[in-house]
Formats: sequence, C-alpha cells, structure tokens
Amino acid sequence: MATSTIPELITHKGCRMIKGIHHPHEVDQIQDLELRDSDVFVVTYPKSGTIWMQQILLALKSKGNEDSVQSVERVSTKDTLNNWDLVPWIEGPGKVLEFVKAESPRHNVTHLLYHLMPQELSRRRGKVIYVARNPKDILVSFYYFHKMLSELETPKSFDEFFDKFIIGDVFSAAVFGGSWFEHVKSWFSHKDDIDMLFLTYEEMIQDLQTVVRRTAEFLGADLTQDQLNSVVKQSTFKNMKQNPRANYEKMDGNLINHQEGRFMRKGTIGDWKNHFTVAQSERFDKVFKQEMKDFPVSFIWDIQEIS
Ligand code: A3P
Repeated sequence: MATSTIPELITHKGCRMIKGIHHPHEVDQIQDLELRDSDVFVVTYPKSGTIWMQQILLALKSKGNEDSVQSVERVSTKDTLNNWDLVPWIEGPGKVLEFVKAESPRHNVTHLLYHLMPQELSRRRGKVIYVARNPKDILVSFYYFHKMLSELETPKSFDEFFDKFIIGDVFSAAVFGGSWFEHVKSWFSHKDDIDMLFLTYEEMIQDLQTVVRRTAEFLGADLTQDQLNSVVKQSTFKNMKQNPRANYEKMDGNLINHQEGRFMRKGTIGDWKNHFTVAQSERFDKVFKQEMKDFPVSFIWDIQEIS
C-alpha cells in the first residue's frame, strides 16, 4: 500500500530531486569525488532505459555468467537485491560514502546533470555511458511510473501529467529529473570532453547485439562471442521481465504499488501513439523542433521505422 504523504520535489543547483531521498549536502560531495580509471557511470534522464544498461553492465561484469550474479545475491545481507543495489544511484542516500569504499570496478547510475558530477570526469578519469530515449515515450513511461512509485506525486490524469511535462520554462521543469532537453543537450555537449559512449534506447531495441558489443569494447571488457551472446540473452525484455532483480518485484509495497503495473512495462518504441491526442503530439513536436534544432542526433519515434 502506498503511503499517504504527498511527495515533494526540490530544486538543487538547477536539478529537480526528490525531497527526503536526495540530500543536497550529499549531492554536493559528488563533484569532488576522486575517480579511478575503471569507474563507470550510466547517465540517463528518468525512463530512458537505466535498468536496461544496469543489467548489461552486470552481465558484462560477470562475463555472461548469471550464476556469479546470483552468488552475490546469496552472500548479501539484504533479503532481496534489485539491480540498483548492484549498480547503485550515486545520488542516493548514503551512496557517496559507499562509493568511496567500494572495490573496483565501481559501476553506478545517475540522473544528475553534468555540472553536478565528478569534475575528474573532464580529466578523462572514469567513463560515462549516456542512454537517451525519445521523449514522447519517456513521457508515457514516466506517467505510469508516477502512478506506481509512492515517492512521486500520482498524476490526476494523463492530460495533467502531459501539461506538467511540457509546461514550464522548458520541458518537464515541473517533474523529477528536470528538463529532458537540458539533460540530453548538456551531457551531449560534453561528449568530447569526457570518455563517453552515447547510445539511444531505440538503437538498443533495434540491435541489442551491436550495443552490447560496443559497450564491451568501450569498457575494455574481454568476452568471447558465447559470453556476449549470454549477456544479450539476459538483457532482452522477455528475460528481464522474468528477472525479479530487474522488475523490482520484491520492492517494498510502501514504495511501489505493484497493483498499478510492472516496472518492465511495454519495452517498445511508439507507445506514445496510444496515449497522445493529435493536438498533444503537434504541441510536443513544436517544442521539440524549437529546442532540438541544432542537435545532431535524430530520434526514432515509431517501431515501424526500424522493422
Ligand atoms: P516502458 O515503461 O516504456 O516499458 P528506466 O530504467 O530508466 O526507468 O526505464 C524504464 C523503461 O525501460 C521502461 O519503459 C522499461 O520497460 C524499459 N526497459 C527496461 N529494460 C528493457 C529491455 N530489456 N528492453 C526494452 N525496454 C526495456
């Protein structure tokens, strides 16, 4: 059962965060963290496929051997492990301290903006994998996620959530994660300053095998073809849907309302077409065109474009 307190967002240094989960004094420590060459940060705007890349990293780290991930689970002091316990949020409570003490290689995820991340990244210490997704599908995925997660305000309706996402100085200034435009543009603008692999959710859907191979190469992970195939297999939507670690199935009912749906929901491109009205789509396109006019990467909006 979800708790009845209304969750609140705070803005810290231009970043929209969840009050009570993200503590500004901890977030401020991240910029000064000393990095190791083997550190990896997966960076995403919410609902862009964070858990998917967490899964790929975990499977690459174990060289495709699911048993070795399960053995971590067996010795864990926690009752249940989620992917986020194994590849944690650097901005989560207490995570900075854990990061400092963790053994190499340290793999983390974040929704933070570039300027809040370790400055050592710009000295090419550590690596970043940025995963971007078309924002119409993000909006829909985010809407359902808001209905599930007690730490995010339950939307009154899809239309209300759409307005919240689109209204403001720029997109989504009113939701957790802030502006999608700002997120993707600001990270992309630093892609040559840091060691970054820029991927899209849509290319992961289109050709997971190639994305896994490129990710392994980027990380310098040496896997045989069979091991890479196993990583791909463990990272398909079908298999992740059955993996409780990826599905947050055992997550506390106070935090996530399992009656409202599953974390691994549709896993496709173009579900926005089942939710947006023609007017909403046109309104969205107008803002997108204006904000992204100089952005060199194009997005895929419909599964038909790749099939
Ligand atoms: P949908 O709600 O559109 O299904 P995040 O981890 O950043 O919160 O992103 C969650 C979104 O990624 C969800 O989108 C989820 O279904 C999708 N996803 C996760 N793993 C996936 C996979 N293996 N294949 C396709 N989509 C995946």
